[in-house]
Amino acid sequence: MDIIKRGAEAEIRKGNWLGRDVIVKSRVPKTYRLPELDRSLRNTRTKNEARLIREAREAGVPTPIIYCIDTSNAEIVMEFIDGSRVKDELELSSPQLNSLLKEMGKSIAYLHRQDIVHGDLTTSNMIVKEDRIWFIDFSLGSKGASIEDMGVDLHLLKEAFQSAHPELLDKFPLILKSYMEHFEQGNKIVQKAEEIGRRGRYT
Ligand SMILES: Nc1ncnc2c1ncn2[C@@H]1O[C@H](COP(=O)(O)OP(=O)(O)OP(=O)(O)O)[C@@H](O)[C@H]1O
Ligand SMILES: [Mg+2]
Repeated sequence: MDIIKRGAEAEIRKGNWLGRDVIVKSRVPKTYRLPELDRSLRNTRTKNEARLIREAREAGVPTPIIYCIDTSNAEIVMEFIDGSRVKDELELSSPQLNSLLKEMGKSIAYLHRQDIVHGDLTTSNMIVKEDRIWFIDFSLGSKGASIEDMGVDLHLLKEAFQSAHPELLDKFPLILKSYMEHFEQGNKIVQKAEEIGRRGRYT
């Protein structure tokens, strides 16, 4: 199996599972933790991520199908999304720019409507395929979100845009507009996100 990424928490490999192209995401053991605590943490995080990926899909957001989870090895086997990272696709000149940004806003609204916070909304955690955006990497996500949590989600996305796509900042309101159109409480959350931004800057 080919290793795609070796991060601090997880290792991502591409492989084949019963004839399908899959991604295997494994949480690597940390030797600085007591072995029992380490196993339990990796296990809980694996289950949490797999559950959120499934719930997001049920909420109407494209996410990889989960084929299998192996809690003893802290592994998730999921559908390989054969596309490219939104991070590499978003350019001022891309013809589908506006529709991608609107879709992003709509999907985040769908997540938040079901109380799901992603926790790491960046354009590296989104894959574009056939004009749709797949959301991945729910490892920092949670369910039962407060307005503050959802505001943080939007605020972090804006920060991610500031660093990865500064030339697209003028387009950011398109995401928020679509978000508000698809979520009754959207206005309130956008205001919260702006407040969080101001707080960050002046404290
Ligand atoms: N289902 C998938 N299909 C295609 N590519 C994927 C898939 N899952 C992950 N990838 C690729 O692997 C990269 C890393 O995956 P992911 O974001 O889940 O891990 P990570 O950022 O290391 O996670 P963590 O934040 O839990 O440490 C993604 O940016 C993407 O390029
Ligand atoms: Mg990631």
